[in-house]
Amino acid sequence: TLTQAEKAAVVAIWAKVATQADAIGAESLERLFSSYPQTKTYFPHFDLSQGSAQLRGHGSKVMNAIGEAVKHIDDIRGALAKLSELHAYILRVDPVNFKLLSHCILCSVAARYPNDFTPEAHAAWDKFLSSVSSVLTEKYR
Ligand code: HEM
Repeated sequence: TLTQAEKAAVVAIWAKVATQADAIGAESLERLFSSYPQTKTYFPHFDLSQGSAQLRGHGSKVMNAIGEAVKHIDDIRGALAKLSELHAYILRVDPVNFKLLSHCILCSVAARYPNDFTPEAHAAWDKFLSSVSSVLTEKYR
């Protein structure tokens, strides 16, 4: 669980990220698909070329969910319950992929807000994204 200071750091960076959430979401997916091309196998029905409407639309949905998790940072499990069932039972995404996407989100945030991305902010976001990933993969067990 996140400490009060970590929660505050997540919320502070989110306030900035939220203003460019769609672009950051699309960039995170671009990074995911180009650095880890095996992740593209989950999206055979998508046009994954850079800047495609589907990529941008999906990036926006992913960041929306992250925003919900920030808003309900004391109840991430409750906030993402439906998404957790979707990823586990229907999409069956291998949990390793959540680490890859989390890494790509971190990179996109760091690249856009280098001055805010202090070691403390980095650690807090890393922990937050792992909590989100745990919630989205816990139904597998
Ligand atoms: C769908 C969020 C990780 C694959 C979705 C949706 C959201 C979402 C909000 C749309 C749900 C809906 O339409 O009702 C997230 C978040 C993640 C995450 C917050 C982690 C931070 C992943 C990973 C993969 C993945 C790691 C696979 C590499 C998919 C696929 C869909 C989907 C294939 C369905 C796309 C479609 O057909 O529209 N996800 N996701 N997700 N997600 Fe994730």
